[in-house]
Amino acid sequence: MLPLLISYTYLLISTNIYIVDAATGKSIFILAGQSNMSGRGGVVNLTWDGYVPRESSPNPSILRLSANLSWELAVEPLHCDIDVAKVCGVGPGMAFANSLLRKDPRFGVVGLVPCAIGGTNISEWARGGGLYNQMMRRTKAAVCGGGVIRGLLWYQGESDTLTLKDAEAYKKRLHRFFEDVRVDLRLPLLPIVQVKCPNHIPA
Ligand SMILES: *[C@@H]1O[C@H](CO)[C@@H](O)[C@H](O)[C@H]1NC(C)=O
Ligand SMILES: *[C@@H]1O[C@H](CO)[C@@H](O)[C@H](O)[C@H]1NC(C)=O
Ligand SMILES: *[C@@H]1O[C@H](CO)[C@@H](O)[C@H](O)[C@H]1NC(C)=O
Ligand SMILES: *[C@@H]1O[C@H](CO)[C@@H](O)[C@H](O)[C@H]1NC(C)=O
Repeated sequence: MLPLLISYTYLLISTNIYIVDAATGKSIFILAGQSNMSGRGGVVNLTWDGYVPRESSPNPSILRLSANLSWELAVEPLHCDIDVAKVCGVGPGMAFANSLLRKDPRFGVVGLVPCAIGGTNISEWARGGGLYNQMMRRTKAAVCGGGVIRGLLWYQGESDTLTLKDAEAYKKRLHRFFEDVRVDLRLPLLPIVQVKCPNHIPA
């Protein structure tokens, strides 16, 4: 409970904070996928350089759910205690949240739920598996303190490009995963933002 209190204290003492949704809770976004979501920006030779671009700066209205399920001020690397087998750097989560609040401060407090694990393939994310269960457990814990799940940000797929068979099965597996998440969260219209890895165009 303590980290939660500290987070709120921080919010309250900071000036110019726009907490429109304070009564109803946070705008919660699940961050899932592989390394591209977890974040490797600024990681060279297994060390993060510590550089945080302006668009990924901390913002008192952006919190993250830590591995031990407490809310805290979100700072890069967002996945440091989640994707623990790898060295984490800057990912897309903070830039997304900052951009969202810039466009519409009525989102209030954004609660990010980091769940991405580097190197994982879509089959490992299937319903019933460890990654799926962990994501569900963290998401349910996130709404426990009040708030609305506003979306899932999904950035994954490179691990499914190693064989043609997996690449061809990807679309079906991904649809299945998205459907399962919507059913299990009882949010049939849950917005899902999927990032597509760029095509490699032969020279
Ligand atoms: C995704 O991550 C892989 C592995 O770290 C990297 O090689 C690739 O450039 C990343 N792709 C994008 C589009 O960021
Ligand atoms: C990373 O490690 C390699 C091999 O040890 C070295 O040649 C290179 O200069 C290092 N790069 C940086 C940015 O430290
Ligand atoms: C939870 O993790 C935070 C850091 O992420 C730490 O400050 C806090 O003491 C931890 N709380 C518990 C109950 O382990
Ligand atoms: C996905 O990753 C797991 C664990 O590394 C591996 O066992 C499996 O063969 C991979 N591919 C598929 C299609 O399951």
